Amino acid sequence: MSVKRVTVLGATGSIGESTLSVISQHPERFKVYALTAHRNLDRLFELCRLYTPEYAVLAEQVDVSDFSARLDTAGIRTQVLCGMESLEAVASSQDVDVVVAAIVGAAGLAPTLAAVHAGKRVLLANKEALVMTGRLFMDAVHASGAELLPIDSEHNAIYQCLPMSAQRLANGTKLSECGVRRVLLTASGGPFRDFSASQLAEVTPAQACKHPNWSMGQKISVDSATLMNKGLELIEACWLFDISPEFVDVHIHPESIIHSMVEYSDGSIISQMGNPDMRTPIAYGLSWPDRIDSGVASLDLFKVSRLNFSPPDRDRFPCLALAESAFASGGTAPAILNAANEVAVAAFLRQEIGFMQIPEVIQHCLSIVEINAAQSLDEVLAADKMARKQAFSWIENCR
Ligand SMILES: NC(=O)c1ccc[n+]([C@@H]2O[C@H](COP(=O)([O-])OP(=O)(O)OC[C@H]3O[C@@H](n4cnc5c(N)ncnc54)[C@H](OP(=O)(O)O)[C@@H]3O)[C@@H](O)[C@H]2O)c1
Repeated sequence: MSVKRVTVLGATGSIGESTLSVISQHPERFKVYALTAHRNLDRLFELCRLYTPEYAVLAEQVDVSDFSARLDTAGIRTQVLCGMESLEAVASSQDVDVVVAAIVGAAGLAPTLAAVHAGKRVLLANKEALVMTGRLFMDAVHASGAELLPIDSEHNAIYQCLPMSAQRLANGTKLSECGVRRVLLTASGGPFRDFSASQLAEVTPAQACKHPNWSMGQKISVDSATLMNKGLELIEACWLFDISPEFVDVHIHPESIIHSMVEYSDGSIISQMGNPDMRTPIAYGLSWPDRIDSGVASLDLFKVSRLNFSPPDRDRFPCLALAESAFASGGTAPAILNAANEVAVAAFLRQEIGFMQIPEVIQHCLSIVEINAAQSLDEVLAADKMARKQAFSWIENCR
């Protein structure tokens, strides 16, 4: 068995750390090639000490000489790079086999696309990259022959429930031709699923970041609380599996035990279950089509005993409907939605706007920013930029 060399984009985040936890259990299979970080340089230093990657990539040029000196002093022979070009380089280098796309938000788009264009095995956590670029992204997967493996838990669950013939994404296989009748996308409902509209108006960032089942970064925790995460995931599912939103049923499943399901034309429903721990989908993506230990404890299904389901409430959680409508509009609308959401969530975390103003910012941007056909990356990036500008000025005006 040859050792696979892995670049972890966003190594200091929640997905990055879970990835490194799996990798560290299989030194005979995986070697860390590059690790990247943004602000958490102390943790990156620690990770370099533990994994001695060839490269550590920082976001800012100003940090490079200090960080290199720290590594030198500790006797760690990792080369330090910085900036977007370096992120793209460590994602596309011929010395890399697997790229874990775990930078949060639009910041992860360029390096993820670089890995796709270079034909790598790409473990996709950074759903925002796919939501923004949709068709362009999947066309690039098709053209390069990249092995795209979703590690978002729901999409990984769907992927696991598909026949092998449908697991080569972007190869033109229609799920309906494989006997699939529909996809059931589950959602935890987040920490506020039973809150009234008036309670939702008062929630704090600390409450929003305390997810009942999953331990995640701040942005996705807030997205999960607003149900924007499910909206982004619906769009992600449509692109990954080449299906329309009508093919997907979204259901709240508060226990987060069933990570999603696929229904077949003979009436069978196949689900993927497990404890809510991202190391399961990450281990699957790293080792597919084999299975390896992930370190995740066995699920005691009989102790769980009850699994609950209910439809999502699009009135109390308008972000889901906003995502559905952006996807229906097509073109650059999902990129506008994503950019407005990123700006609004960051403003909510800084306590500049309330929780229920997040969908207001997004609605405003979708109504005011011109939607184009998204035929090129430049068009998508221009829409992203314009939406951010509009979102910032909406927030500025309401302060
Ligand atoms: N966490 C989960 O369970 C989960 C599940 C499914 C999907 N996802 C998706 O996975 C992605 C990562 O989520 P997460 O929860 O791991 O987020 P996170 O804990 O906030 O980590 C984000 C990572 O991205 C880096 N980063 C942030 N801004 C950056 C920038 N401008 N340039 C370069 N790097 C940047 C961070 O670096 P520093 O920490 O050094 O600042 C960190 O390494 C998101 O797209 C999310 O939707 C996450």
